[in-house]
Amino acid sequence: MASKRDLVSILDVERDLIGILELAGNFKNRQKAGETFEPLRGKSLAMIFEKASTRTRVSFEVGMSQLGGHAVNLSPQDTQLGRGETIADTAKVLSRYVDGVMYRAYRHEDMVELARNAAVPVINGLDDLEHPCQIVSDLFTILEAKKKLKGLKIAYVGDGNNVCNSLLLGAAIVAAHISVGCPPSNRPNAGILKEAERIARGTSSEVAIVTDPKKAVENADVVYTDVWVSMGMEKEKQERERLFRPYQVNSALLKHAKPDAIVMHCLPAHRGLEITDDVIDGPQSVVFEQAENRLHAQKAILARLIGAA
Ligand code: CP
Ligand code: NVA
Repeated sequence: MASKRDLVSILDVERDLIGILELAGNFKNRQKAGETFEPLRGKSLAMIFEKASTRTRVSFEVGMSQLGGHAVNLSPQDTQLGRGETIADTAKVLSRYVDGVMYRAYRHEDMVELARNAAVPVINGLDDLEHPCQIVSDLFTILEAKKKLKGLKIAYVGDGNNVCNSLLLGAAIVAAHISVGCPPSNRPNAGILKEAERIARGTSSEVAIVTDPKKAVENADVVYTDVWVSMGMEKEKQERERLFRPYQVNSALLKHAKPDAIVMHCLPAHRGLEITDDVIDGPQSVVFEQAENRLHAQKAILARLIGAA
């Protein structure tokens, strides 16, 4: 049996990332043309959500259906996982029924455990370390808007969280420069940063972590932010809202970026906190294209990992 391919980290598609972005474009064009294209006919995807989701849940379910397949949604409360069945046993059982598992987890360790024990591909739909599907999709959105990736400057402002970690790696892989503006206490994961720096040396791109948000967005082509309080961190809400206040993406901060910079947010947004209404609803914002592209990019991921594309 050929070995299965997971997408636990965006590094798992490092060599194939550009190919996946091209396939996403192809799928998007086919869908816009009203073409029926069902390379995953008869295939099934199990989706396990430990946390809430709007975009990931709907885009994977609709994506499977558009590709001719089927998705089964599982929440731990409704399955035996919630009553103590192990992740390893769950992985082994699901592998007997479905062709892939999409998992949104609290702990990266649980993601790795599921992937290690599943005989079918496991796709990370967000955990505490990474959000690879989001960033594959976001790179597709940037490519659509800017017609290139190599040499662009992407600025990420705010919490050095899961989205930031995958963006660091993704930017380095596609040879874009990345500058993260964050408080010293909330830098991205140290291991991921080291890996991004290693990849960036090979692609001749730059990785910078700075404290000053203005410096981060200076001359940027893309300004990206995410929530200050990620799922599971609700207890730190008050402290975080105080700490990240200087990192709000507002019109004053945006003036430091290139005049044609695009503004991105993976959503859901907390308007008035990490991003202001005028910026998220303004002419530079691509957040809803970004949300739509989750569908097209994830169809490409599904076709690559579960199908034969
Ligand atoms: N961006 C994102 O993953 O959104 P959901 O939490 O709604 O899936
Ligand atoms: N960083 C956010 C992303 C939500 C899609 C979180 O983990 O809650």
